[in-house]
Amino acid sequence: MAARILDGAAIARTIRAELASRIQAVTARLGRPPGLGVVLVGDDPASEIYVRNKLKAAHESGVRADLRRLPATATLTEVLRIVEALNESDEHDGILVQSPLPRGLGRGAEQAVFDRIDPAKDVDGFHPANVGRLVQNRALLTPGTPTGVIELLDRSGIQIAGSRAVVIGRSEIVGKPTALLLLHRDATVTICHSKTPDLAAVTGQADILVAAIGRPWFVGPEFVKPGSTIIDVGVTRVTDPAYAKALFAGMPDRLRGFEMRGSAVMGDVHPRCGEVAGAMTPVPGGVGPLTIAMLLANTVKAAMAAIERQSVRW
Ligand code: GUN
Repeated sequence: MAARILDGAAIARTIRAELASRIQAVTARLGRPPGLGVVLVGDDPASEIYVRNKLKAAHESGVRADLRRLPATATLTEVLRIVEALNESDEHDGILVQSPLPRGLGRGAEQAVFDRIDPAKDVDGFHPANVGRLVQNRALLTPGTPTGVIELLDRSGIQIAGSRAVVIGRSEIVGKPTALLLLHRDATVTICHSKTPDLAAVTGQADILVAAIGRPWFVGPEFVKPGSTIIDVGVTRVTDPAYAKALFAGMPDRLRGFEMRGSAVMGDVHPRCGEVAGAMTPVPGGVGPLTIAMLLANTVKAAMAAIERQSVRW
């Protein structure tokens, strides 16, 4: 039987509708909408699209979102200066610096920037203080994509407690925090990565399999436990015609679609996994919309926490 498709876009719409009353309450209390500062450095095409979608979602939801752009030639000092200004701003409750930063900024630049964001405004949950709180299961602001994965599972009626969960990928943005959130929900969690021997033997035990590798269709049916749930976090835009031809061998419709558009957005999970799994997320329309919904939720949480801190001070 074909796997149930978990509709992340519909779940994200529900979450955003639920946020509306809280956004109104914050706006009434502050005399201004919740505010988000988004920093984009350089011109990475994928980041451009992500940031555009984040700004659009914020505006639609009544969250003020201001974009601060810098060229790819910007120095680390210039990026940090923008972060400092947003830290000081009374109009901005949340700050997001889009990752990845241009390579020219040097190794360690990204962490140096995340380290400088006021933890109370860190709507990505990447500041070490928030990462520490996440490890201790007492974080207010947790990373968007991992939090979205948990929401998607919960709202799809998939039991986390007592399940075996396997996360492929150990990034700071997705793999590690997703594993921690699953652990805090009483899953038995394994993190796999590029050096994991016999990956399929490990993933084949997973009741919940989270793929966050960034390699198109890397996860095939042989990786999947029958009846399990697969969450596909991978988003890769394939533009190389030879690569697309190899991926879409025996799939003339998909190949034609690629040739018409000149590119294809692909997840980490091969569609044939749907013949084995019980449920899986699509790409696009799975985890992506939830990442944005959770960013808005975190901006509102940060604004509400700031209001609470102020009222304690008064
Ligand atoms: N790049 C890819 N995902 C994310 C995310 O969740 N936050 C930020 N800041 N950059 C990203």
